[in-house]
Amino acid sequence: MKKILFVCLGNICRSPMAEAIFNHKVKEMTLESALMADSAGTASYHVGDSPDPRTVETLQKKEIWIDHAGQQFKKEHGLAYDYIIAMDDSNKQDILRELAGVHTEKVSLMRDHDPEGRGNAPDPYYGGQDGFETVFEILDRSIHSLIATIRSTHTL
Ligand code: 4NP
Repeated sequence: MKKILFVCLGNICRSPMAEAIFNHKVKEMTLESALMADSAGTASYHVGDSPDPRTVETLQKKEIWIDHAGQQFKKEHGLAYDYIIAMDDSNKQDILRELAGVHTEKVSLMRDHDPEGRGNAPDPYYGGQDGFETVFEILDRSIHSLIATIRSTHTL
């Protein structure tokens, strides 16, 4: 089993969306016994909270289901997960600080896997629904490519 942890700031918008998209694709490929994703936030504001309603709505339009309670990223996640995927540069710096040099090779940026270009998966929290649709498209194509990379690396 390869385990992937998606990480954003609050763990209510981007990273739970990424987790749901990843697990949806894995289910479609019937690879549930080989791959799983979870998510976390670098901040503690939303520990225990459900995903933002705008994330839930964006996913529902694509018939993707989500069930997640907010959790904060901790050093121990470095050992527990095989891939740690940050949504933006700020999240990545916070993750690397928390890991303090251990398992740092597991960390990449979401858009390192984007076939359409590098950069950050923008935080949609302070904007409208359109920001959630935009980040969905970024996550969807990046995760498609990420899964292909993981499958080829581990012959899954
Ligand atoms: P996320 O978005 O990092 O994609 O979950 C945010 C959610 C909440 C806050 C910031 C960003 N906040 O400041 O509460």
